[in-house]
Amino acid sequence: MELPSGLVKELIGPKKPKVAEIELTLFENCDVNCSFCGHEKKATVGMTEEEMLSKIPLISDFLDTIDDDISLVNLHLVGGELLQDRLITEKQNVLTSYRKLIEAYKVLCQEKGIIPRVLLVSNMLTTKTEIIKEWLEEMNQLVFLKLIASYDLYGRPITKKYLENIEYLKNYISNINVVVTKEAINKLKVGDPVFDSLYQRFPIFMDDFLPDSSTQQMIPSDEDYFQYLQLVLKKYPKLLPFGEAITKVKNSQLNEIQFTTFNKCNILPNNVVTNYLWDRHLPESFVGTINFQDNSNMLYHFLESNQCLSCEYYQSCPLRCPVSWSWKNRERSLGCVNRRFFDSFPEELV
Ligand SMILES: C[S@@+](CC[C@H](N)C(=O)[O-])C[C@H]1O[C@@H](n2cnc3c(N)ncnc32)[C@H](O)[C@@H]1O
Ligand code: SF4
Ligand code: SF4
Repeated sequence: MELPSGLVKELIGPKKPKVAEIELTLFENCDVNCSFCGHEKKATVGMTEEEMLSKIPLISDFLDTIDDDISLVNLHLVGGELLQDRLITEKQNVLTSYRKLIEAYKVLCQEKGIIPRVLLVSNMLTTKTEIIKEWLEEMNQLVFLKLIASYDLYGRPITKKYLENIEYLKNYISNINVVVTKEAINKLKVGDPVFDSLYQRFPIFMDDFLPDSSTQQMIPSDEDYFQYLQLVLKKYPKLLPFGEAITKVKNSQLNEIQFTTFNKCNILPNNVVTNYLWDRHLPESFVGTINFQDNSNMLYHFLESNQCLSCEYYQSCPLRCPVSWSWKNRERSLGCVNRRFFDSFPEELV
């Protein structure tokens, strides 16, 4: 059964996030090749300044649709790799184009009474670190702009330069983002000293993995996901979002859904705007019906399949990314993994 998006929002009620999110993927181009990333690394669509600025009317349209109770809008600037060396040369410096885009975004937000907050996602492999630090300093006179530094336990190059950049730019890093693949969970089980040191120093958000047909073997089974949650409980209780959920379950506190669906848009390099999925995702890869404009029914399907609304943990549970959860070729086990996890808490914790 499908429900209109408004009704799903009503069902969710106070668990609906108060923050809106714009994922602005400027281009897919990247000079490295992570094993879990489906981007076309050689594509050039979206790389000119004109194409970048053409996103402003799309952002404006989205801002006009968000709910009245939204208190904050996060603009995630993403590639491909936005800070790759070959875009920051003496002949050409892409940072000036990003600046124009961010300035235009700031004007837009001022017109609409929104405080702009910009988060630029990077692989932190740049060798132009000093130039970038100066740019960040200048930009922060203008607007809140921080980096989300990606780290992965598997499939991503982590070099000496990466570690130096993390240190050098640490005051501009808002958090670390990690993708929860099957391989990442296996690595977490055996231990990863770099991950452990980042864990001590920064908030880490563990994001659900969305595969494509060539990477679907990397999506964790429910059993893998359960083992990952056990590791969060035993070893990494500060990890977001499940570390926070442990405390909230313990204290029966309200937790918003942590994998945004409402008040979220994904602006793609070719100016297609979706809720989250890419236009190249195939409907047959997912269970249920796909609506590129609105994921509400994936969320509804998740709630219904797990009978969340009558679950004792509903109030405090972060749920799961409904899109990743809907991936068809994923090994599933009976019952809800989150529930099994919360049920497994030792007596002294609850
Ligand atoms: C596509 S990357 C682009 C930005 C930059 N190149 C980087 O690696 O941080 C944006 C974020 O998405 C994550 N990511 C890449 N492939 C993903 C996938 N298939 N599912 C979920 N997240 C993914 C990356 O780890 C990164 O944190
Ligand atoms: S650095 Fe980012 S864009 Fe490049 S391949 Fe890795 S995840 Fe994809
Ligand atoms: S524990 Fe499972 S069934 Fe309960 S609310 Fe969370 S996702 Fe739904």
